[in-house]
Amino acid sequence: MGRDAATVMQRCDVLGTCSEDQGRLTRPFASDAMRRAHDYVFTWMREAGLTVRRDSVGNVLGRYEAATAQSRTLFLGSHLDSVRDAGKYDGPLGVLVALAAVQRLNESGSRLPFAIEVVAFADEEGLRYGTSYLGSRALAGAFDPADLDRVDAKGITMAQAIRDFGGDPRGLADDRWNSGRPLGYCEVHIEQGPALEARNLPVGVVSTITGFSRWGLTFTGEAAHAGTMPMDRRRDALAAAAEFVLAVEAEARATAGLVATVGQLAVSPGAPNVVPGGVVLSLDLRHHDDAVRVEHLQRLLQIAQHVAKRRGLSVASQVIDQEDSVPCSPRLTALLAEAAQELGHLALQLPSGAGHDAVIMARLTDVAMLFVRCKGGSSHNPAESVTEDDVAVAIDVLSHFLELLAKQ
Ligand code: HGY
Ligand code: MN
Ligand code: MN
Repeated sequence: MGRDAATVMQRCDVLGTCSEDQGRLTRPFASDAMRRAHDYVFTWMREAGLTVRRDSVGNVLGRYEAATAQSRTLFLGSHLDSVRDAGKYDGPLGVLVALAAVQRLNESGSRLPFAIEVVAFADEEGLRYGTSYLGSRALAGAFDPADLDRVDAKGITMAQAIRDFGGDPRGLADDRWNSGRPLGYCEVHIEQGPALEARNLPVGVVSTITGFSRWGLTFTGEAAHAGTMPMDRRRDALAAAAEFVLAVEAEARATAGLVATVGQLAVSPGAPNVVPGGVVLSLDLRHHDDAVRVEHLQRLLQIAQHVAKRRGLSVASQVIDQEDSVPCSPRLTALLAEAAQELGHLALQLPSGAGHDAVIMARLTDVAMLFVRCKGGSSHNPAESVTEDDVAVAIDVLSHFLELLAKQ
């Protein structure tokens, strides 16, 4: 059985080479790097006995039929896209652990009273177009057609990117699952936090997936000569933005459970001898209580206005992406916990501070998530790592979860 975990680790290494950047892992939605990753996943899914298809938005779905036709379907999987300079387990581990569990069924000639679809989602991170969950939104029927007009850093619209990738933006409505309510969706994912490692646990089950607010703010001042414009007459957009960034940090540090991040900041015109006239920055805000998140979002947007006004600038803000917290299904989560416990593991329940495709799949069906310990809780960082032993536990727990579900 350990062979399965070794295979998953090797395959994570292989997918880790499918990058659009030299020397680091960056695999955006509908990119050539994604196409190379799909080539591998298609092959591995077929070897595992699945029938494989790619939908219009660019999800890869491998189907393992039930013992009898007309059965319900259980979804497993995770995403294949990455952030910039990513680790190689965030996403692919969930796809490959799911595939390993189905491969075990296939190799033992087992068929369950439900079909299984292993999904490799096209875009969870939103790196290329700013909106998260494009793949799961298409499957769950929650895709916003207006997003097709979004343009990437090269000015390519999402619609064009989908066409270039071989999909048909007009066919996105057909990506929607329309074969009855699925039995559920179970996603295996690295924890991306320190809780399991702190308790020396290989796996845990997720109670709630934290919601988020992702906004864009534009500070507009006045570009000026760095050598001649007196300090008291400047409308320096970067100085204003810097004051705001520190206010964001202070707000989160002062509020229990609130995390806030300015991850992107672009300065214009961006010359060393020009006082910055403009700054565009991102704001990512999260709290497990949606009301608290929204309250502090409003406060921070007010602070931005006050900072700008005091400095003689203007500031505009717009929502980029926003999702409320999603509780995992008590039914499926209890079964996942039972599977872990029957294999001798404490099934710690813990919230997810990270977003996952399960957030969107919860609109379609019951969802559950299994977390896998990761070293130092590190993620969205090339240092991201898991152990083969923990991956073996995850495959065993997911396999046992399928057995328990089949007996229900
Ligand atoms: O940002 C997140 O929480 C996820 O990694 N997309
Ligand atoms: Mn992820
Ligand atoms: Mn991620």
